[in-house]
Amino acid sequence: MISKRMEEALNEQINKEAYSAYMYLAMSAYCNSQGFLGFSHWMRMQYQEEVLHMTKMYDYILAQGGEVFLKTIEEPPKEYGTPLEIFQKTLEHEQFVTKSIHQLMGLAMEEHDYATQTFLQWYVSEQVEEEASVQDVLNPLRMVGEDKGGLMMIDQKLGGRMAPSIPAPAN
Ligand code: FEO
Repeated sequence: MISKRMEEALNEQINKEAYSAYMYLAMSAYCNSQGFLGFSHWMRMQYQEEVLHMTKMYDYILAQGGEVFLKTIEEPPKEYGTPLEIFQKTLEHEQFVTKSIHQLMGLAMEEHDYATQTFLQWYVSEQVEEEASVQDVLNPLRMVGEDKGGLMMIDQKLGGRMAPSIPAPAN
């Protein structure tokens, strides 16, 4: 079982993952409208990742006999600027999520909640990967700058991103 405080904090995190999914879907639509179909695809795959992050947490709360509260999801912006600006915003957002996961881990440690610590370890590692995968796009974007040919090459590469695999339920 989990404490009421932990239950509340995990439900807050579900909302952050839901917002992340919503924001990446909005970014996908924006990239599509700009003619960057590869960037749009990458963001669509990122949206799917976030849905998995959200449902994995949902499953864990239920497995621990807790209650799930689905809260209002904030409306994401419609415009995101250039591909470089989009990925700068993406990195900032992932850093925000990383901080939030670390705060959750801090709470689990404070409460001597070993099961939740083990569960959250997956998210700690996942956030390292999330930030690295954004950096992998940001670096070439910084190199090509405004060069249209370079941007199209990156767009084509991102169009090949694979769909995320579905994690096992609960933990
Ligand atoms: Fe669910 Fe991208 O963090």
